[in-house]
Amino acid sequence: MVRAEDVTIGFVGAGVLGSGLALALSAVGWRVTAIASRTDASAERAARLIDGCTALASAQQVADSCDLVFITTPDAAIAEVSGAVTWRAGQGVAHCCGAASIELLDAAVNAGVAVGAMHPFQTFAAIAGPDQSAERLRGVTFAISATGWLADFLPSLAESLGGRGIEIPDGMRPLYHASAVLSCGYLTTLLDAAVGLWTSMGFTEEDGVRAAMPLARATIEAIERQGPTNAVTGPVVRGDAATVAAHLDGLSQHAAHLLPLYRQLTESSLLLARGKGIEEAQLEQLRRTIGASG
Ligand SMILES: NC(=O)c1ccc[n+]([C@@H]2O[C@H](COP(=O)([O-])OP(=O)(O)OC[C@H]3O[C@@H](n4cnc5c(N)ncnc54)[C@H](OP(=O)(O)O)[C@@H]3O)[C@@H](O)[C@H]2O)c1
Repeated sequence: MVRAEDVTIGFVGAGVLGSGLALALSAVGWRVTAIASRTDASAERAARLIDGCTALASAQQVADSCDLVFITTPDAAIAEVSGAVTWRAGQGVAHCCGAASIELLDAAVNAGVAVGAMHPFQTFAAIAGPDQSAERLRGVTFAISATGWLADFLPSLAESLGGRGIEIPDGMRPLYHASAVLSCGYLTTLLDAAVGLWTSMGFTEEDGVRAAMPLARATIEAIERQGPTNAVTGPVVRGDAATVAAHLDGLSQHAAHLLPLYRQLTESSLLLARGKGIEEAQLEQLRRTIGASG
């Protein structure tokens, strides 16, 4: 077995995640030596950014020249790529998919290969290039499942990026993924609703984004520093049912489509309000205001 620092790492799939991870790992000293992709130009573009990295013509060539291969194709191609390569016993192969675990690499397991899944809890939306992808990988939590030497090696890659590796039991993977969607996709849905109210007031979407972002950013920073219960503000955690009633009135006149969302968020905030020590009578009044039961 080669020493950890000598492990040569290759990539198959030079997209937003593959190029960024290759660049990030190389920048902290790992030996990223080869990259291939469906389109040669994609592999060449990524390889040019990384010292000592060569663009190769096929997944097989990457596997033949590296100790560890990350398959960073779209999820639907991972099992197919893994099954088409002739692996060497003792080498490693990993993917970065969040929805599935190491079962995608069953074909490689049969060849005596250590396998791993290493999913970054991060989004790569609206990325300008691999530099930004690499930057976004710093400090991230990675969900890792792995066998053989990758069980220690993949967490060490996460730590080298200032992040950490955690193990998610397979039965909990849907919850893990739901948490990612709440933190990212549905956060966007929520802010889209907030920005939409600015357009209802006659402003542009740009005005809404400009107004909402400092507030949203400060809120996220407060959550990061002190957790949700300490960071939460607003009428619910003050027990202010009159203000909630005024919001419902305004929404019903100008943006009735947001009433169910607003009611549900108010109801979900009651838990945080209880955590802040709001009295039961105030909670009950808030519940009555939004028409919630229980
Ligand atoms: N994007 C995210 O926000 C994100 C977040 C967490 C995890 N991930 C995971 O990261 C992995 C990669 O996703 P991505 O967003 O980077 O996808 P992507 O930007 O679409 O990149 C995929 C790359 O793989 C290449 N490719 C496609 N089929 C191939 C094949 N059969 N053989 C070799 N190369 C192939 C693509 O083609 P070309 O060579 O033609 O360019 C492209 O460069 C996925 O498992 C995904 O679940 C993504």
